[in-house]
Amino acid sequence: MKDFQPEAPERLVHVPLGERAYDIIIGPGVIARAGGEISSRLKGRKAAIVTDEHVGTLYLEGLMQSLEADGIDAVSITLPAGEKTKSFEHLMAVCNMVLEARIERNDAVIALGGGVIGDLAGFAAGIVRRGVRFVQIPTSLLSQVDSSVGGKTGINSKFGKNLIGVFHQPDLVLADTAVLNSLSAREFRAGYAEVAKYGLIDNPKFFDWLEANWRDVFAGGPARIEAIAASCQAKADVVVADERENGARALLNLGHTFGHALESATAYDSRRLVHGEGVAIGMVLAHQFSARLNLASPDDAARVERHLQEVGLPTKISDIEGALPPSEVLMDAIAQDKKVKSGKLTFILTRGIGQAFVADDVPSSEVLSFLREKQGA
Ligand SMILES: NC(=O)c1ccc[n+]([C@@H]2O[C@H](COP(=O)([O-])OP(=O)(O)OC[C@H]3O[C@@H](n4cnc5c(N)ncnc54)[C@H](O)[C@@H]3O)[C@@H](O)[C@H]2O)c1
Ligand SMILES: [Zn+2]
Repeated sequence: MKDFQPEAPERLVHVPLGERAYDIIIGPGVIARAGGEISSRLKGRKAAIVTDEHVGTLYLEGLMQSLEADGIDAVSITLPAGEKTKSFEHLMAVCNMVLEARIERNDAVIALGGGVIGDLAGFAAGIVRRGVRFVQIPTSLLSQVDSSVGGKTGINSKFGKNLIGVFHQPDLVLADTAVLNSLSAREFRAGYAEVAKYGLIDNPKFFDWLEANWRDVFAGGPARIEAIAASCQAKADVVVADERENGARALLNLGHTFGHALESATAYDSRRLVHGEGVAIGMVLAHQFSARLNLASPDDAARVERHLQEVGLPTKISDIEGALPPSEVLMDAIAQDKKVKSGKLTFILTRGIGQAFVADDVPSSEVLSFLREKQGA
């Protein structure tokens, strides 16, 4: 994060990707300005909005009005909320809607919703007519700080999550920080885990600031805008350095190896664990594991755990309700998630808060004995 500016009222983060460069506008009420922001950037005067039933009820009408006021003709499709919507069936429905509305390459597909809608609508925008313009209006904290930036789009397959998709950068991201007030407390906390992640990767000052200001981030106001802007800037920096995820972008997976294994162990049942909660537990485990390998101080792991606990996130495997499979099964999930080369795993480890790094020689036997210890087996 180059320009961390606590207290700024509205923020603009630019993602300098050459001809695919775009702006992220962050602040309360930006949806009401969507028509103006879109018409000043895109040549087309038509839009197809994709939303889900929760978000659509709350914000679709306001968005339509804003588009209409600026002469943009919009149609919409409202899909069921939830991860299952990232399917071929719904992709087809969205593509049909976009084609029926005669959306041309300079017109826009607009995603109004969380990461599920963003991933699905972005994929449709990437493949219809070999790519039409795409505007992200992320409405969950997770989508504002993570999924709406970077251009990864896609759907799930029976072989796993996000296995079918394309890179398709948005042309504009409008992160309305006021709409987060209607997000459930649990979803907000889950998104916050990804915010804290950016501090833990390489910005210890940001983590200090979050420890002091997280209550204001949750409450709204300038601290929320700043936390989201800082996160978008951090993600943008990584995306610009490694747009197609060949190297540095891997750091964004801090906490995700353990987290994904826990999500898979709970069969992606959101009543038991949502993604950000898995990441919270995973980040604590990554710090503890790094301490066990004598790379970092156990005090840092304790500090990370204390902060995430304070905001109300789970931090231990035992915080997950219901029985979990034995460590060997978690280990299998980790091995499937990662490429295992002769018993060695690639892992995001850390030398302390804000000092994460990619380690590609972690013995899987060490991971297994660590997990056994954590599961009390
Ligand atoms: N493309 C990427 O780089 C990337 C990165 C991270 C995650 N993802 C994907 O993002 C998805 C998760 O995103 P998510 O956590 O936003 O889930 P989500 O889209 O399912 O949203 C979570 C819930 O909150 C509701 N909601 C969203 N905004 C709301 C608001 N303002 N008010 C009230 N309710 C609201 C939704 O209807 C849904 O029920 C996953 O599919 C994941 O794979 C993608
Ligand atoms: Zn994540």
